[in-house]
Amino acid sequence: MAHRILVLYGSYRSDRMGIRLADYIVAGLKARGEDVELIDAKAIGLPMLDRMYKEYAPGSAPQALEELARKIRSADAFVFVTGEYNWGVQPGLKNLTDHFLEEWFWRPAAIASYSAGRIAGGRSNFLWHGTLSEMGMNVVSSTLTVGPISEALSADGKPLGEAGKFLERAFPRFADDLAWWTEAAKMQHSRKKPPY
Ligand SMILES: Cc1cc2nc3c(=O)[nH]c(=O)nc-3n(C[C@H](O)[C@H](O)[C@H](O)COP(=O)(O)O)c2cc1C
Repeated sequence: MAHRILVLYGSYRSDRMGIRLADYIVAGLKARGEDVELIDAKAIGLPMLDRMYKEYAPGSAPQALEELARKIRSADAFVFVTGEYNWGVQPGLKNLTDHFLEEWFWRPAAIASYSAGRIAGGRSNFLWHGTLSEMGMNVVSSTLTVGPISEALSADGKPLGEAGKFLERAFPRFADDLAWWTEAAKMQHSRKKPPY
């Protein structure tokens, strides 16, 4: 049975490049039969965090938050596609993520990072591990690191050259690892309600 997977991406730049990797992952997971949706923070356009979703009285949260909360709660797993700004995480994705807490709990998450250079977003990849763990997700150990992003993927998310081949070799293990933990979590959810 298909797993419901959200692929989250959060650059707001006009000339953003990471959407290539997000599109590649969405297409790759769909090709494996998964039920995948891209959550593009820029397209959703949440305001800078004021009240968290849970701080609104039931039924009074802005429609975009309500809709996103529903999608997060009903997902089986998440993929965070992260670029790197000044050795840190991208604020758009972090802002989207911080609107929620319990909605993320008890599901696996995988991290795919990229950047303009050969570091491939490795520092933000590392930072997201701690953040996602704090938010109650089980971060799988397989990861993707893509760089330089412009040399690895075309504008329509197709692998290019040596960097693209490297990504294609890494993707199956990444997807297998996430699928294994997603199945494990789904099985556990079906037999036991999370303690909180
Ligand atoms: C404000 C800013 C800071 C950046 N800092 C880093 C960095 O610390 N490390 C890095 O490898 N690339 C850095 N870059 C280059 C990005 O990796 C590259 O622009 C990438 O395409 C950004 O992702 P996006 O296009 O999806 O927004 C930075 C780019 C910007 C705009």
